[in-house]
Amino acid sequence: MHYFENEHLKYQNNQLYCESVSFEKLAHEFGTPLYVYSKNFMTDRYKEFANAFSKINHKIFFAAKSNFNLNVIKLFSDLGGGIDVNSAGEFFRTIKAGVKPKDMLLTGVGKSAEEIELGIKHDVLLIKAESLGEVYQINELAQKLGKKAPVAIRVTPDVDPKTHPYITTGLTESKFGIPASQAVDMFIECNGLSHINLCGIDMHIGSQITSIDPYVESVIRMVELTKLIQAKGINIEHFDIGGGFGVKYLKETPFTPGDLAEALVPIFMQLDCEIYFEPGRSLTANGGVLLSKVVYTKSNEKKNFIVIDAAMTELLRPSIYKAYHHIQPVVRNTKDDIIADIVGPVCESGDYLGKDRTIENMESDELVALMSAGAYAMVMSSNYNARCRPPEIIVDGDKYFLTRSRESFEHLLYDEKIVDGLH
Ligand SMILES: Cc1ncc(COP(=O)(O)O)c(C=O)c1O
Repeated sequence: MHYFENEHLKYQNNQLYCESVSFEKLAHEFGTPLYVYSKNFMTDRYKEFANAFSKINHKIFFAAKSNFNLNVIKLFSDLGGGIDVNSAGEFFRTIKAGVKPKDMLLTGVGKSAEEIELGIKHDVLLIKAESLGEVYQINELAQKLGKKAPVAIRVTPDVDPKTHPYITTGLTESKFGIPASQAVDMFIECNGLSHINLCGIDMHIGSQITSIDPYVESVIRMVELTKLIQAKGINIEHFDIGGGFGVKYLKETPFTPGDLAEALVPIFMQLDCEIYFEPGRSLTANGGVLLSKVVYTKSNEKKNFIVIDAAMTELLRPSIYKAYHHIQPVVRNTKDDIIADIVGPVCESGDYLGKDRTIENMESDELVALMSAGAYAMVMSSNYNARCRPPEIIVDGDKYFLTRSRESFEHLLYDEKIVDGLH
């Protein structure tokens, strides 16, 4: 079978380690399922990105939607990054992580009036609008609050990023942003509004994009558009290219930040703007593992099944996007490989983690690692089947920290009760 490793998640004497801590030790102490993240993987990815673009005036805003663990948010903030928050809930978490609103971008296709007010009241760095109606809404709310709101408008450059349709966002038919064809007129109209400081243009063409070409094509279009808008006397100070930078889940060969910088910096140089980036997955995905345990194995005339204690409730991506997460034993054994479906305990046929996988034959109680689980994993978890969310550990060298405990049944009830008078 194939073993997935990187500099911070690798086998030592046939035992899988996160930095200097073995997964076996973590499973023993915290149980399974369990999320484990490598601090130094995330730090390295951030620094690699920042170094690649060090020649230009830029700022990196970590997309909290990919992993909103408070300590992960704080890590990127401490490294000098801002945070891209997509909802009032992410704003709240980011504040709790100690980040100031002036280091946050407020994004999202359907921000409510309450969410916009929150952003204006707390003076977030920038509110990114995705429709004319939203810009008017921001203007009205800013007027009510006696403020002038800093606004960028998201434009769809209409370039196909060749990724999964569910994570394609830059086409004209997608629900996001406004079409490039309407952009100049809309910027002129919005620039006249009294309580808006229209200062940015924004794109985000999709996620898990592994080729540079869609970025180059989109950025060329957006730079041309920005020049047209600036020629109308509108002061565009920021150009935000969003995130979406792809990672290796199996055999992908994504570009590096260095490759991206080499292709894009000469195009950015044509603009006198600060460049914003909103990476999520590329900073965290391959620094995370969902650790699980085999509960049962079984076979019939058609299939082998390995039933593990993690499910779609902890890792939804295989069920909703048929996404691939490599699955491997924590302790490498010498048994023959088999082909098996790796499935969870939830009552859905769609609850699987891997289909037709070549994997060492495993037995009950053996530990398995679901790789690349640092992004769009815990954030998409649910309590379906009344399952408790797992704890999250961050490893730093030979130290490890419990950042969030396993949920209890009491957490599941929160404020729910049998009410008087109903029965
Ligand atoms: C507006 C915006 N910015 C940034 C991101 C982060 O994308 P990724 O995690 O693929 O880098 C997303 C993800 O969907 C997004 O919608």
